[in-house]
Amino acid sequence: MMVPAPPTGHRFRVAFCGRPHLPLVAGWAMPKVEILSSENGPNLVMVDGKVATALCRCGHSSHKPMCDGSHRMAGFRAEKTSVKIVE
Ligand code: FES
Repeated sequence: MMVPAPPTGHRFRVAFCGRPHLPLVAGWAMPKVEILSSENGPNLVMVDGKVATALCRCGHSSHKPMCDGSHRMAGFRAEKTSVKIVE
């Protein structure tokens, strides 16, 4: 049986056991998670295309593990890269 796509913005999915009114399995859809290492800046944890948090990768933050902008004063230099964790 075809499971209808959830409405835009909803993460909750329900599968049916042949009777549309009786859900068999219910669960949360996995979000898309990606780590973007910004050029000369922090690691951005992206969840469904939005920045969830910024993690320090220069070692100069006084609020580790979060980036507090200290990388600018420290003259941190690094290339931009990305890693997809969950697609
Ligand atoms: S990357 Fe921003 S403070 Fe370290």
